[in-house]
Amino acid sequence: MAVTMKEEQKGIPAHGGKLVQRVLSGQEREFYLNIVKSLKSLKLDRWSLSDLELIAIGGFSPLTGFMGEKDYLRVIEEMRLSDGTLWSIPITLPVSHDDADLYDIGKEIALKGEDGIVYGILRLEEKYYPDKEKEAQLVYGTTDLNHPGVKKLFERGDVYFAGPVYLLNRIDHGQFEDFYFEPAETRKLFADLGWKTIVGFQTRNPVHRAHEYIQKCALESVDGLLLNPLIGETKSDDVPADIRMESYQVILKNYFPKDRARLVIYPAAMRYAGPKEAILHAIVRKNYGCTHFIVGRDHAGVGDYYGTYEAQELISKYEDELEIQILKFEHAFYCTKCGNMATAKTCPHDKSAHVHLSGTKVREKLRNGEDLPKEFSRPEVAEVLRKGYATN
Ligand code: ADX
Repeated sequence: MAVTMKEEQKGIPAHGGKLVQRVLSGQEREFYLNIVKSLKSLKLDRWSLSDLELIAIGGFSPLTGFMGEKDYLRVIEEMRLSDGTLWSIPITLPVSHDDADLYDIGKEIALKGEDGIVYGILRLEEKYYPDKEKEAQLVYGTTDLNHPGVKKLFERGDVYFAGPVYLLNRIDHGQFEDFYFEPAETRKLFADLGWKTIVGFQTRNPVHRAHEYIQKCALESVDGLLLNPLIGETKSDDVPADIRMESYQVILKNYFPKDRARLVIYPAAMRYAGPKEAILHAIVRKNYGCTHFIVGRDHAGVGDYYGTYEAQELISKYEDELEIQILKFEHAFYCTKCGNMATAKTCPHDKSAHVHLSGTKVREKLRNGEDLPKEFSRPEVAEVLRKGYATN
């Protein structure tokens, strides 16, 4: 879908002021496609490839490349880029110590995917050694290797490569291609739909009734919902993206008015960094053109690493600077006495009347082929999950 410069500026300003666009096309692309043939290449893992894509399409605006040491240090220490712009999680390109020596500063590198295709180009401006203990503690709040984000951080390369990037070939999102939109395209979509206020919703789980409830509460006061599930790398026991995508489609088809919600993939990797990832998620959704963003209970959390409302507390301090309005929701559940969804703010009954299942419990039930209660999951969604788990 071609987007003109004027259309890119539609809606809320991107983070840092300008939506970044580093996807090459036409003659410029041809020129670089020729050049990459003679360059040294570097194979990116799935995580880095998704970061490359998000930088190039403007999801990570104002970033134009993988972070250098100055940005990296200020981000982990102060949650700011070196120019002072709010940024909560470093976007880096880790390379193994042995591989790092093969590349020269000042040279361009062809960035390949695991499939051998050259997707991008990086001008190597810096190589540096991060202090991973420090990064883990400051970004994730722990150095515990049982934390999936921390585990991943230590598994990846020990040297960080930095420099500006361009995308030369689009990444194929396979069965999700119909739901792939770049930030400039979602902005155009919202304008075409006549939506002036749009709430973004991050999720890495199949949709359950608490999700639907908070999405609909938000929809009562904005024009549209961007259901924006993360479909990049997640930990192995999370529900696979294909099953989740089907759950989002059935909920939209059966329970949302057609002209009020759109499903668009967020191709990033999940960091599980709780509060700091909530800020990154809000920034990205602003770049996609959302004016509002939902942060519920334990946003982007895992296990017991973060408090239920820690993400809300942290993001509250930066709301003015974020410029996207944060809609905070308390823990939602079905109350059998109220006969509907509620939170502690709206329900007077005690816990024995509340139906609530943890993600772990849900996955356990699905693996054992058990039904999910209708108070927890819409039957259409439960059916998608049952079938998905039966065939996996
Ligand atoms: S996340 O890792 O992407 O945050 P999940 O997909 O479960 O996990 O959550 C998506 C969004 O819904 C987050 O903002 C989260 O805080 C919120 N959320 C999930 N479950 C509930 C609930 N029962 N009550 C209120 N908010 C919730």
